[in-house]
Amino acid sequence: MTRSWAEPWKIKMVEPLTMTTRTEREEAIRAAHYNTFLLKSDDVYIDLLTDSGTSAMSDRQWSAMMLGDESYAGARSFYKLVDAVHDIYGYEELIPTHQGRGAEHLLSQILIKPGDVVPGNMYFTTTRFHQERAGGKFVDVIIDEAHDPKSMHPFKGNIDLAKLAAVVDEVGSERVAYVSFETNVNLAGGQPASMANIKAVYAYCESVDILVMLDATRALENAYFIQQREAGYEDRSIASILRQIADHSHGATVSSKKDNLVNIGGFLALRDPDLAREARALLVAFEGLHTYGGMAGRDMEALAEGIREMVATDDHARSRVGQVEYLGDKLIKYGVPVVKPIGGHGVFLDAAAILPHIPLDEFPAQALAAAIYVDSGVRGMERGNVSAGRDPVTGKNRHPKLELVRLTIPRRVYTQSHMDVVAESVIEVYEQAETITGLRFTYEPESLRFFQAEFESVS
Ligand code: F0G
Repeated sequence: MTRSWAEPWKIKMVEPLTMTTRTEREEAIRAAHYNTFLLKSDDVYIDLLTDSGTSAMSDRQWSAMMLGDESYAGARSFYKLVDAVHDIYGYEELIPTHQGRGAEHLLSQILIKPGDVVPGNMYFTTTRFHQERAGGKFVDVIIDEAHDPKSMHPFKGNIDLAKLAAVVDEVGSERVAYVSFETNVNLAGGQPASMANIKAVYAYCESVDILVMLDATRALENAYFIQQREAGYEDRSIASILRQIADHSHGATVSSKKDNLVNIGGFLALRDPDLAREARALLVAFEGLHTYGGMAGRDMEALAEGIREMVATDDHARSRVGQVEYLGDKLIKYGVPVVKPIGGHGVFLDAAAILPHIPLDEFPAQALAAAIYVDSGVRGMERGNVSAGRDPVTGKNRHPKLELVRLTIPRRVYTQSHMDVVAESVIEVYEQAETITGLRFTYEPESLRFFQAEFESVS
């Protein structure tokens, strides 16, 4: 008999949750202008806004923080982090940043010239922002299946090599800044790339002299799916698969607030010492000295420990993704439209299918996230039309094919019973979907609008 997964830890400290009434939540969502980013966390019961920086740290991480060396230059904690990144990911050059977007900023500035093209497997909000800000143009080369919430393709994060080659042929390899290869693609629903695809993209890019830069933010979860789904990897450790992913790249940006199990931090990792030198020249201007960048010594300690802990046994990744799948399977069983297969870091509700009566320009996913909050105090996040923003050239809403609400599961924080409550609330809202109305902007920020936009009900 196969055994259930269970969390490979026990709970040492608890944080009480606030329960609110429906009336209080109706008031709170109005005050937050129907944007779950603008809710106060005290008004939230189960917080599935993001898996970013929301992990619970281990006793070892907390005790490592006490060892933080806060020296301005040459801190011991920095060298521990260098060793951890080198041992687990294999990268030689480490540039520590305050979080992922700090690394994206530096990478975009050193590699992108105005007019360059950056092909990648689906955009991510902050990543594309920095690519465009540096004068680049992001071109999506993910496989078509990634845009279809119903496709059961096991590796919906794959790059379509024909699409990539077409971009390179059109603009010439010297105008391609690098290939931006995201592991376990966030906006596709936490969907992995296969090792075969990762190897093929790397081999092709080597042949045309183009760098492959991973967004390795969720590479651990990608490695887990390779172990589960790709022939030949079933007996390999997740640590060795993760290492093999990184081996097929020239560098990576990482938001350590996800896989790496810390509340703040990130890094740019590179192989080429000359490129690393360029990045460090910017690092000292935008983040901090090259041996701490955007982190305190204690943050680097916790991060070094988190990097080792995430791969110490396969049980961590198995229970992490297992919990996400548990919630997803409950919703699938009930017939709630979700992105399939269930991804690594959250369950993505197909808002366009749940609310077919709301036109895309009235933001069905934004409205659904607000409705779930009002029902139960569960906070999710819009990942659709609002997040995609406007095309900088035409000024029109980008209308991505996926109009989703993301219920993102923090690592090591909630229990299976919390997942039961979430499923019950989503099912109840789904049953009353026709009562939900669309939204319109009352305030629309120019860039990364989803964070601070304000809405009102169209009804
Ligand atoms: N890349 C990916 C794939 C991400 O998911 C994120 C953040 C970043 C880069 C940026 O990293 O936040 O540390 O600056 N994603 C969070 C989320 C915000 O909720 O998905 P950051």
